[in-house]
Amino acid sequence: QLADSLYIINNFAREYFADTLLNTEEGQNVGLSYFEERGFTQETIRKFQLGYSMNVWDAFTKAALAKGYNLDYLQKTGLVTVRNEQPGDNYRGRVIFPIHNQSGKVLGFGARILVKNDRAPKYINSPENEIYVKNRVLYGTYFARHAIDKLNECLLVEGYTDVISLHQAGIENVVASSGTSLTQHQLRLIKKYTNNLTILFDGDNAGVKAALRGLDMAIEEGLNVKLVLIPDKEDPDSYVQKIGAAAFREFIAANKQDFILFKLQITLQDAGNDTTRKSQLVNEIAETISKIDKTEDFTRQQDYIRQCSQVLKIDEQGLINLVNKFIR
Ligand code: UTP
Ligand code: MN
Ligand code: MN
Ligand code: MN
Ligand code: MN
Repeated sequence: QLADSLYIINNFAREYFADTLLNTEEGQNVGLSYFEERGFTQETIRKFQLGYSMNVWDAFTKAALAKGYNLDYLQKTGLVTVRNEQPGDNYRGRVIFPIHNQSGKVLGFGARILVKNDRAPKYINSPENEIYVKNRVLYGTYFARHAIDKLNECLLVEGYTDVISLHQAGIENVVASSGTSLTQHQLRLIKKYTNNLTILFDGDNAGVKAALRGLDMAIEEGLNVKLVLIPDKEDPDSYVQKIGAAAFREFIAANKQDFILFKLQITLQDAGNDTTRKSQLVNEIAETISKIDKTEDFTRQQDYIRQCSQVLKIDEQGLINLVNKFIR
């Protein structure tokens, strides 16, 4: 009942903000030109149901209250906020990205400020409520699910605009973690469609660390994880807009690396000549390898053992024994 009401309000808001974007002067001059400057086509804007929230106190709030929606519910969705007892719009002067569930119903919104500044957050996202549970949602699943199914691979990016630009470039098997590290719920959502996960993260330190955090959990869930590091200062959105769809596809194909081997290489670099650190590392990698699901692909674990023992310059049988310790 409450959930239904929240879905109904979100759907009204989605239509309202899309209408504001496409059919009002402020929407066109401010919101639409912003999206166009980012290289989004009309088709893309309509497909992702993007919108704009007028830069006035209560345009949406008034429309929603006039429609008869309950103020408590409006506040629960995060669309409306009350200040000095006056209800008003929470996403004023921002462009709007609806967040859909797998069947296309709107769970919530991301609202981006037009010009970044230090006083306000770049994105405001819907608060958690009865229908929007952040750690269970991956942005873009609704638009990506058939392509993920068909290609038997899911690309994971960080942001809303990464998903959108890749779709526009014809790469449709892509979802976003929305800037947080992956949760088990999200990994299971991916597993409903495929076992092959390719993470496209910023090459900066934060991007790499976020990617590494997801690894062991992804392996435990039985996913086959690959990684592509996007060049410095770029993200998938900016990079595909810069080099074009064809070159971007080639870049992905040429730079896809195995995640376990990647982790091993960078942690090995970190360890340097420290022998204690290095033996810790051997243990860690053995544990990771032990989590690979053998029922699915027996040779995969053996391949890893061979490759990792080469990288670590240790005896293969020694690594096998260590891996087996973790299995028992
Ligand atoms: P980024 O800072 O990489 O933003 O954060 P972006 O996706 O590239 O967005 P643009 O290109 O600047 O518009 C990645 C994701 O982290 C979440 C959003 O989901 C964003 O897409 N995020 C980021 C927030 O929720 N709030 C923020 O203030 C910043
Ligand atoms: Mn399908
Ligand atoms: Mn980053
Ligand atoms: Mn970006
Ligand atoms: Mn980004």
